[in-house]
Amino acid sequence: LGFGLYCDTLKAGRILVLAPDQKFTPNIRDQLSRSGASVFILDRDREAYLRHLESRFSAMITDPATDTQTAAKLGYEVSRTLMEHVLDQPDLNKIHRGESLVRQVVDLILGRDEAWAALIRLARHDYYTYTHSCNVGLFGLGLLKEQVQEGQDLDVHSYGTALFYHDIGKSEVDLDILNKPGPLDKREEEEMQKHPEQGYQIMVKFDVLTPPARLVVSQHHERCDGSGYPHGVLREDIHSVARVCAIADVFDALTSDRPYRPRISAFSALKAMHQEMVGHFDQPMLARFTRLMAKTFADKASG
Ligand SMILES: [Fe+2]
Ligand SMILES: [Fe+2]
Repeated sequence: LGFGLYCDTLKAGRILVLAPDQKFTPNIRDQLSRSGASVFILDRDREAYLRHLESRFSAMITDPATDTQTAAKLGYEVSRTLMEHVLDQPDLNKIHRGESLVRQVVDLILGRDEAWAALIRLARHDYYTYTHSCNVGLFGLGLLKEQVQEGQDLDVHSYGTALFYHDIGKSEVDLDILNKPGPLDKREEEEMQKHPEQGYQIMVKFDVLTPPARLVVSQHHERCDGSGYPHGVLREDIHSVARVCAIADVFDALTSDRPYRPRISAFSALKAMHQEMVGHFDQPMLARFTRLMAKTFADKASG
């Protein structure tokens, strides 16, 4: 693998179970997975680990023999790990790797019927910005896929990347504000509200995304009734994919744990979006999203 694997033991504490130059055989993998033990890597090997995941995922999705569940599982994990890496400190190399990964995730979703639902069901609900970024990307892609299937001409790769990168501007927000375990005061809120514009500037600086797709980043906190930020523009002036992003963004925020409040169910989140946030969202799009989520979770209940 090029990096070591470690496990915790009762007697000897954390031990090396596979050296970087040792072959990772199916036998070792089965033993590790049967033991149920958590496997660790060294912090300094994060980059090597991530590169390994990226190349495994590329190989896997181009192989038609890979089952969709397995591809989705790896796709979700590699997306989270890479988004963590990008959001930590965006640079050209990381941003381009993220872009190419999202392309592959998009191809997986467009190419296989069951892939989107499989990815959505894997969604975690912690409060990390990188988990949130992936979830918003995936929720939004469900709507974009439907639009493409209906014949709309949409650059799903670029818009998909924009959904994953919608909060990239948070990489410039003070960590104390980002992780504050409670509501923000006025100054902190003003700082936080700069992230759509900061994200847009990062996209321009690194020349990522098409100009219309960059609007998804800069407009994802705008609301159809003009109550959003940074500019308070109305529905017709908000890009349609930014309106998709707003729905996916709020839905994921409500259904994920926050340092100061636990998550609520998908049903309660959709109910709140319909009844308590009247005028915020693109209504036909919200209705469509509600149907999509209902169908996905009803299938799960019956399956
Ligand atoms: Fe945001
Ligand atoms: Fe967000």
